Amino acid sequence: MTSLDGIAALDTRGRVGVLTINSPPVNALGHAVRLAVLNAVQAFEANETLDALVIACAGRTFFAGGDIREFGKPPLSPNLPQVVNVIEKSAKPVVAAIHGTALGGGLELAMGCHFRVAAQSAACGLPEVKLGLLPGAGGTQRLPRLVGVSKALDMMTSGESIGAAEAMNLGLFDEIVPDHVLLDRAVALAGEKAKTQATRRTRDIVPEIPPADDFDRYLTTHAKKFGKLPAPRTIVQAVREGLPLAFEAATDFERTLFLDLMNSDESMALRHVFFAERDVLKVPGIGSETVPLPVSRIGVIGAGTMGAGIAVSALQAGFSVILVEQTEGALEKGRNTVAKILDRGVSSGRLTRSAADAALGNLQPSLQYHDLASADLIIEAAFEDPDVKKSIFSAIDKIAKPEAILATNTSYLDVDVFAGATTRSEKVVGLHFFSPANIMKLLEIVRGKQTAPEVLATAQILAKKLGKIPVVAGNAYGFIGNRMLAVRRREADQMILAGADPYAIDRIAEDFGFPMGPFRVSDLAGLDLGWTASTSKSATIRECLCELDRRGQKTKAGFYDYDHNLNPAPSPLVRKLIEDFSAREHVKRRTWSDQEILEGLLRPMIEEGQKILDEGIALRASDIDVVWIHGYGWPRWRGGPMYYGAKMNWLPA
Ligand code: 3HC
Repeated sequence: MTSLDGIAALDTRGRVGVLTINSPPVNALGHAVRLAVLNAVQAFEANETLDALVIACAGRTFFAGGDIREFGKPPLSPNLPQVVNVIEKSAKPVVAAIHGTALGGGLELAMGCHFRVAAQSAACGLPEVKLGLLPGAGGTQRLPRLVGVSKALDMMTSGESIGAAEAMNLGLFDEIVPDHVLLDRAVALAGEKAKTQATRRTRDIVPEIPPADDFDRYLTTHAKKFGKLPAPRTIVQAVREGLPLAFEAATDFERTLFLDLMNSDESMALRHVFFAERDVLKVPGIGSETVPLPVSRIGVIGAGTMGAGIAVSALQAGFSVILVEQTEGALEKGRNTVAKILDRGVSSGRLTRSAADAALGNLQPSLQYHDLASADLIIEAAFEDPDVKKSIFSAIDKIAKPEAILATNTSYLDVDVFAGATTRSEKVVGLHFFSPANIMKLLEIVRGKQTAPEVLATAQILAKKLGKIPVVAGNAYGFIGNRMLAVRRREADQMILAGADPYAIDRIAEDFGFPMGPFRVSDLAGLDLGWTASTSKSATIRECLCELDRRGQKTKAGFYDYDHNLNPAPSPLVRKLIEDFSAREHVKRRTWSDQEILEGLLRPMIEEGQKILDEGIALRASDIDVVWIHGYGWPRWRGGPMYYGAKMNWLPA
């Protein structure tokens, strides 16, 4: 084995060279790696003792794509298309040996090789669209040649990966083999091809070009899914306009489109989110030396909407769950909710029937706290009342095994108060799930004053197993997300008194990219949260609405009027009610521009985010972005509130 430059190593097996690239963690194709590949391939071409080359990677994966950290910086030569072209043009056969995930530029490099052998467990895809980009190293031209235009468009505009077997069926991979023989088989194939001097260049395949109508239909069919993002449409454009051109002209065209997208606001924001989602895992005081606690059995106290959702999430991840309620009726209802959610998972295709049955089989409904004695982690999801929660913590502390973690799903309350009700405050943590808990990706992990590092590490691992993104937050009222949400709600309420139309506010929030504006969200959640008729004094618009039994979607009237299908319509009555309220309270009304509304809605909550950061409740601004993207519907392609606030110069420099 000859080490070429610390990244590439060349081994020879007879007359076949094996080039192994080792650039942890994921063999991203940054400048040094591109250079290493280029030099090695050129050396191979010049080497008369070698007849064929295998390109493989060390570590956990084949090339995971271009190096995203380089994007947006001045380009460094050679660029990836140049490297892929040199491989493809080689006069001697080159075989890619693929393990792990061949993604983006990694798959593009593999498509530039003449043959592709993959491990059974491998997967591949072109996920550039998720970064607001298109495949920029020939992918838009080579993939349609290998798998057909329709499948290529689906893969590139969704960015989803496919497994090795599917790639083989599509003709993208030539062979799939058991993982442990990957290299041997790739070398053998390279040797066979060398005997016939067989190179097979993807660029030489004559693509079947569909009629223009097909592309139009594709765009129309997927219009909703593509939304406002330029990348998916540009991918379609690259294929549609590129395929009829000569290959080099088509890849030049692709490159121009790629660089345009690279500079788009959407791509910059999406790249920020890519790293933000990984940075949330980096928590000071938690490192490889922190040993997480084992968790296999989870107790959930409270079988309401949240408790049942948490139970489903845990069951689907393979945990056994003890679900505890106080009465037979509540327990039965909770069990039915769990079963219904699992059934919905089956009918929507997210879950197989047997997986749903197995999950339900792992559920133990119970009326006894004592059954929680075997749980490794107990999550309290009871009514949001501090006294109720405190007494639960005190009770379960006496029953739970000493090493068990006790968690609260509170969305606002002081975790340390509950820890204080136990004899194990270092084992108490907040696990704030978001509704519906089996769907929403965010998990706020609330660190109490004494929460131990291994408890936080365990919570992070739990989140990963549940398919969630964990963000560690300090223990302060509303933590990160709800504290900012309260500010947004306050500002929206003030704006409508000051003359802004609630329906315009919702429209502007939805145009910005939120799935629902703040008033539609309020109607969905119920305007009567925390409201009681006996103490209601018409002191706020919400109180006035509840007094009229306009309590939101559940009464088919709230800020909006709803038809029987729950389609919302603006309510003249509500508009009048707001005007009268403003007059009574002497609030001066005025007209608002769309920009004023947007700023009025977002700027104060972003300023609150800055306070959360200054107080150390969030570890970094990008953690706040992740919270709002995964918990509150902030459009991912806008990068999150703190990213947006910085871009708009709303934050101190
Ligand atoms: N560039 C730079 N860094 C990358 C990277 C990439 N393409 N892919 C992953 N990383 C980094 C991560 O930021 C992380 O760094 P950190 O440890 O400092 O936080 C580290 O590698 C490990 O990544 P993950 O935590 O995500 O590791 P996993 O094992 O969970 O997942 C993976 C591995 C499936 C490869 C996942 O990292 C991934 O999906 N990566 C992105 C793949 C991608 O989008 N490729 C396309 C890039 S664009 C492109 O190729 C353009 C081309 O068309 C020209």
